[in-house]
Amino acid sequence: MIPESFIQELLHRVDIVDLIDSHVPLKKAGANYAACCPFHNEKSPSFTVSPSKQFYHCFGCGAHGTAIGFMMEYAGLGFIDAVRELANRVGMVVPEDERRRPADAPQTVALAEAMGRAARFYYESLKTSPKAIAYLKSRGVSGEVARRFGIGYAGDGWQNLEQAFERYDDPALQSAGLVIRNEQGRLYDRFRDRVMFPIINAKGEVIAFGGRVLGEGEPKYLNSPETPLFEKGREVFGLPQARAALRETNTAIVVEGYMDVVALAQHGVGNALATLGTATTPTHVQKLLRQVDRIAYCFDGDSAGRKAAWRALENSLEALPEQKSIGFVFLPPEDDPDSYVRAHGADEFKRLVAQATPLSDFMLGELSAHCDLASAEGRAQLVAAAKPLLGRLQTPLLRLQIVKQLAEKTGFSQAEVERLCDLRPITRPAPARAPRRPPSLARALLALLLQKPELARQVPLAALTDSSGEARAVRQLCAAVADAGPVTPGLAALIERLRGSDEESVLREAAAELMQHPFAEEDIDSEFAGAIEQLQAGEQRRAFEELQTKVQRLGVSGLNDNEKRQYLAALSGRNPPAAVREGN
Ligand code: UTP
Ligand code: MN
Repeated sequence: MIPESFIQELLHRVDIVDLIDSHVPLKKAGANYAACCPFHNEKSPSFTVSPSKQFYHCFGCGAHGTAIGFMMEYAGLGFIDAVRELANRVGMVVPEDERRRPADAPQTVALAEAMGRAARFYYESLKTSPKAIAYLKSRGVSGEVARRFGIGYAGDGWQNLEQAFERYDDPALQSAGLVIRNEQGRLYDRFRDRVMFPIINAKGEVIAFGGRVLGEGEPKYLNSPETPLFEKGREVFGLPQARAALRETNTAIVVEGYMDVVALAQHGVGNALATLGTATTPTHVQKLLRQVDRIAYCFDGDSAGRKAAWRALENSLEALPEQKSIGFVFLPPEDDPDSYVRAHGADEFKRLVAQATPLSDFMLGELSAHCDLASAEGRAQLVAAAKPLLGRLQTPLLRLQIVKQLAEKTGFSQAEVERLCDLRPITRPAPARAPRRPPSLARALLALLLQKPELARQVPLAALTDSSGEARAVRQLCAAVADAGPVTPGLAALIERLRGSDEESVLREAAAELMQHPFAEEDIDSEFAGAIEQLQAGEQRRAFEELQTKVQRLGVSGLNDNEKRQYLAALSGRNPPAAVREGN
């Protein structure tokens, strides 16, 4: 757990306007800043960033959040990574990291430094290597696309990197996997005479390389080893280059090879990414589905490609959220995406992607192909084979669809399939959008507190008896402010504090709404006073009603002294003194 106080301090130091501006150039628009929304495709800017609230909101697509939320959405990072990323930006060290991996941070910085420098060196070397240029030309890669992917060339000497670094024996070069020490203790370059593909993470750092031989040779691709910077199962090749196309198409095409990504981009299919010589992992799927609603796997047409597709299916099941979809493109056996797009063009390739086989069809088709559905044994076998896969799916609707199809194919009833597969109801997280309710007192209070959090210290919580989501959110906010000590956290810090709580969505909705209809600064205090008055009046009414019921039951003599005074005061239209109310 990252301590609350750290998040608060972080959000205080990071300026959301600076942060977003460094990714999406912003223009001043009144009190706020605006841009065309990075989360959907639009021509006129409806994406708004508020410096005072440290919050962004898009009036077009409804995307909204804090600086942390922005990093999560924009860079596809998880919460912790987003916090780390922002902390780096402002020179803070996440306390949890300090304890867990003391020597880690400086080390990864040195590695990233070394990788970046090597990438620039390889990139420059390409310009002076006619044979590497000729190789890329022979593969149809233009100078522009080579530049876009930062493709380089590692020359054929043994110690070329000596020219790029002051100290060739810097241990960081070995940790980064750029330089290797042989048994005699001699140092030499890992990558020699290869075309270099840098792998760049969401932050824009070079974290690994893939190097291809020019022509024939073994291994065809040599990759960086895993390092503290680079974990194969988490990263893909081509992510930063694909960003705009991912947004535009809302689809990620996952392919196997570096050259597939490059060739597709060369032909105008910009939304392709490659896994790095490993099967697609659930982490890959999660990362990508944070940025797009649909993944299309497009592996080589041979039997290895089909196997890879099946593994991708298995690894996608648990990471597939509701309302996102996964499809499979099967190329002719002799093709990979690179050769296919060169032979048939982008439009034809895009058509295949649009018509990809849905996950459920691929799953049932493959399973059925291995069972003899004409026999009772075969049909039973089909259900048994489906069981482990269905168990991993977290999407109730899709699972139900598949169960129905299984029932149809096997002659079992739907209930029987569910029982045989041991399927329990999937408990779904609360829907992201709370249903719209008419404005309530709690909702007004919530908006006021979000706009001016220090008011939370003045809310008479005992009077807020409402059980709505808004009222719960108000109580949470008040508790959070009380907890925070003398410095009141801002709106962004409060929202982050309640991330993951039941009230998170109510809060975020309210904050987003506030971006559209803020209170005028000068009205806040009087609005707040009015709301509190209403709240207390409501409480007095309730208290009086209670007393009245008691009187009806027991007579006035059934009340104690305090209650009597309060009852009489209410009857005579005067408010009882506060001390009396509290004593009750
Ligand atoms: P392929 O063998 O399908 O190569 O490997 P490719 O992508 O078609 O490459 P070209 O077109 O011949 O240049 C697919 C991916 O598997 C990994 C690489 O990531 C490669 O892009 N791979 C392959 C390796 O890591 N090492 C190898 O020796 C071969
Ligand atoms: Mn190929």
